[in-house]
Amino acid sequence: MAGATILVLNGPNLNLLGVREPATYGRETLADIEEACLEHAAELGLSLDFRQSNHEGQLIDWIQEARENADGIILNAGAYTHTSIAILDALKAAELPVIEVHLSNIYRREAFRHTSYVSGAANGIICGFGGHGYVLALAAMARLIAAATDHD
Ligand code: DQA
Repeated sequence: MAGATILVLNGPNLNLLGVREPATYGRETLADIEEACLEHAAELGLSLDFRQSNHEGQLIDWIQEARENADGIILNAGAYTHTSIAILDALKAAELPVIEVHLSNIYRREAFRHTSYVSGAANGIICGFGGHGYVLALAAMARLIAAATDHD
């Protein structure tokens, strides 16, 4: 597991964290979350590749590249979570451990947020813990990768 690289992908509108609907998403910015992830990844001995895009095709390109460049994917696909079969297909093709993250508890919100295509390719889901969910996802990912390495 030492030296494993985790791709942390953020989808549309997550660049606006901190100013976007703070009652729902909190005051933390995406840069704050990246910093917390970098700190935690260093403690776990993981390398981090933290990215954001508002474009579905860009997210898919990065997921495809992860097959070669990463050992696991942590994904907050934003609203694409609820719409994108293409992202689901890309995640399945990547054949990597995937953890789905949402800042808000999507199951307490509007009905259209209760369906997640990403979940169909995810080992697990963390939602409702704000930015801390990313740190929890990193810890979970480290365990998943360690368990897979033990069995090799
Ligand atoms: C979100 C939840 C989605 O429903 C929403 O479209 C987002 C953010 C979250 O992190 O809570 O953009 O993924």
